[in-house]
Amino acid sequence: MKEVFRRIYGTDPEVVWAAPGRVNLIGEHTDYNDGFALPIAIPRHTLVAARHRQDGRLRLHSAQVDGPVIDLDLARLTPGAVTTWAAYPAGVVWALLEDGQRIGGADLHIDSTVPTGAGLSSSAALECAVAFAYNDLYGLGLSAPALALLAQRAENGFAGVPCGAMDQLASACCNEAAALHLDIRAGAHEQVPFDPQAHGLSLLVVDTRVKHDLGDGAYAALRSGCEEAARRLGLAALRDLTPADLPRVAEDLPAPLVPLARHVVTENGRVAEAVSRLRAGHVAKLGPILTEGHASLRDDFRISCAESDLVVDTALAHGALGARMTGGGFGGSVIVLAEEGWLEAIRIAVTAAFRVAGYQDPHLFPVSPAAGARRIA
Ligand code: GLA
Repeated sequence: MKEVFRRIYGTDPEVVWAAPGRVNLIGEHTDYNDGFALPIAIPRHTLVAARHRQDGRLRLHSAQVDGPVIDLDLARLTPGAVTTWAAYPAGVVWALLEDGQRIGGADLHIDSTVPTGAGLSSSAALECAVAFAYNDLYGLGLSAPALALLAQRAENGFAGVPCGAMDQLASACCNEAAALHLDIRAGAHEQVPFDPQAHGLSLLVVDTRVKHDLGDGAYAALRSGCEEAARRLGLAALRDLTPADLPRVAEDLPAPLVPLARHVVTENGRVAEAVSRLRAGHVAKLGPILTEGHASLRDDFRISCAESDLVVDTALAHGALGARMTGGGFGGSVIVLAEEGWLEAIRIAVTAAFRVAGYQDPHLFPVSPAAGARRIA
């Protein structure tokens, strides 16, 4: 990173930060409903090498994108002004300014091993790496959760994606060998021990390579459907519903909103159950919860796709303990929990099933829960 930075900008960077992508174990589409989630960070990172500037310019370069250095004026950062990948790092700087932070410009060089469009939160990793680097460069002293929320603000207010806060909180706050239990309304998180390897288990990520794009309107439509359901029920958010409310909800809501509410209620329940199983050391018993979560996303929330369903069904038929799509939906990645000994058979079966179906080969890689954003140089 230092060498490339030197080649591009002619000086050394002052700091290098790394922020990871994530997979969510359970608690999908619950964050913007004020609910609960249980993500882990994965050992795939976005790196940012940075040096401050005193002339109010923000210069950006990415190893993943061909083209010259992008040169922006801090004073002209307004939502809509930047529409390429640069909207994510520029949005973070905009969010810091909006928050009243005393910052100036910077030179940033970015590199990443988080696949894009795979539902693994490459954008949150990028935003968090930039937020932490800026916090360090300008001695802002902001906490990891505060930086995560500024990163979310960048994505909502500048990049125009109405996501919740799960991805950024995962990238900022996760610990190694742990899952992050998020209570979004309370603004609270706690670490829950989760070390599949120590239990002879493995967590496999299967990137279906069906491109998922949160900006395409479907995510926003689901979010506003949930918000409308809460409004009609006179609630602040769907988080306020309990399973006992569901029969009444089915009568009070227009038919299309009923399954949305049902998913959020049952999914919040699954997060609570997953946390108690993990706390009891019953890691393998997470499996059925994952599979139930997938059924709920497929049948109630209706955001799975044929490729993701095929991974789940094939993995389960070949010995997996549980499997589900993870992230925003409409493609992206599936996670599979399995005993180590079954992993190879699952890998072979899923790849073969994709070939038979005529889909492009999926990318499969095991992950273990990694640490959140950290300074590496
Ligand atoms: C995307 C969003 C998150 C969350 C998930 C679904 O990853 O960025 O905020 O809503 O989808 O759980």
